[in-house]
Amino acid sequence: MQLIDGKETAGQIKAEIAAEVSQIKAQGGKIPHLAAVLVGHDGGSETYVSHKVKACAECGFKSTLIRFEDDVTEEELLKKIHELNNDDDIDGFIVQLPLPKHISEQKIIEAIDYRKDVDGFHPINVGKMSIGLPCFVSATPAGIMELLKRYHIDTKGKHCVVLGRSNIVGKPVAMLMMQKSDSGGNATVTVCHSRSKNLKEMCLQADIIIAALGQPEFLKGDMVKPGVVVIDVGTTRVPSDKTKSGFKLTGDVNFEEVAPKCSYITPVPGGVGPMTIVSLMKNTLSASKKTFKN
Ligand code: GUN
Repeated sequence: MQLIDGKETAGQIKAEIAAEVSQIKAQGGKIPHLAAVLVGHDGGSETYVSHKVKACAECGFKSTLIRFEDDVTEEELLKKIHELNNDDDIDGFIVQLPLPKHISEQKIIEAIDYRKDVDGFHPINVGKMSIGLPCFVSATPAGIMELLKRYHIDTKGKHCVVLGRSNIVGKPVAMLMMQKSDSGGNATVTVCHSRSKNLKEMCLQADIIIAALGQPEFLKGDMVKPGVVVIDVGTTRVPSDKTKSGFKLTGDVNFEEVAPKCSYITPVPGGVGPMTIVSLMKNTLSASKKTFKN
């Protein structure tokens, strides 16, 4: 069993990005600038956004954090998005999800100029991604594809089972895994979800399992075949008296049971998480360079 070290891989990619940004700066080019909008004080969202801001510094980017309280109105948020869309110094921005219930996430996502949508959540980017056109691909699926590539894990013709059908991970990663492509993809993909009846049978047939259900330790040892590749996307904050923060990040895979049967597996933390952040940095650099001519 080989551990897929997302932390180390993300570190390498950040160094590659930082080197490119140094060159851009030396040539008098524009410094990439990411803005993040954070509503409220949810512990998970605070942590994710602070990691994103820190990663910007490590890559040599500018970053701006814009905070609103929980009671911000949809109108106020839309006004800020309009400002960011029209701010020439901001190359890309994200609105951290989830948002309070009185705000329509879909309305907010669709208000973002798709050319600055470095999260890749806008329907234009989702549509382009699904038909294989250059675009901002959402960060977690992009990070998973990059990990598979950097570990030379062959996906062509393999049976990939995706657990979960969220717009952020399950659906887009299924699209990317099935995509006809010279780098990655070309897999036979099955998507299982909370209503799937024969989920265990499907998992037992899988060469690659991408677990993105948000159910701690859902995937058990008796659900996988020997030699399987397991990508664990779960990041549930489970209360723990063993850590300073009072919780521990728990994946969707029972690591102790599943890992001994795997050829490759990602740990939680230190697997997909750091790659998600670094994919956002790559998208921001692309936005700054206007890579995708729209
Ligand atoms: N909430 C959970 N994951 C994400 C993400 O990738 N981007 C944003 N904006 N919010 C999230």
